[in-house]
Amino acid sequence: MLSSKVTKALNTQIELEASSSQYYLAMASWAETEGLSGVSGFLYKHADEERMHMLKLIKFVNERGGHGIVPALKQPPHKFKSVKAVFEEILKHEIKVTSEINNLVDVTLKEKDYTTHNFLQWYVSEQIEEEALARQIVDKLKLIGEDRSGLYFFDRDLIGITASTEGGAEKGQKN
Ligand code: FEO
Repeated sequence: MLSSKVTKALNTQIELEASSSQYYLAMASWAETEGLSGVSGFLYKHADEERMHMLKLIKFVNERGGHGIVPALKQPPHKFKSVKAVFEEILKHEIKVTSEINNLVDVTLKEKDYTTHNFLQWYVSEQIEEEALARQIVDKLKLIGEDRSGLYFFDRDLIGITASTEGGAEKGQKN
């Protein structure tokens, strides 16, 4: 049975994952209108993954006798300065998510809730991967700079990166 403190903290995380999904969905839609099919495909998939992170939390809260609350969400921005700005935002956002996951882990330790602590380890590992990937992409974009043909190849490369990480969402759902 979850304590009210842990339930509240998990519901806050549910909201953060849901708003991350909306945020990345807005980025995906923008990239699609810019003709960047590799970038938009990557971001649509990323948005789906964040929704899966949210669902996984809702189901866990409900299984443990709490109530996972579906949050109201603010409209995310719909215009972005550049692809580089988008991925810099993603990296910044993921660093914030990691810090929130760490706070959540801290709450479970203080509450001596070792089951939830164990459950959250999946999110701890996931954040390491997500931050590393975002950092890698930002570094690539820094190398490309203002080069339009570089951006064309980057967009094509992202199709491959998206395909190589395919199955991540399904993997997460089973865990
Ligand atoms: Fe679910 Fe990217 O954090």
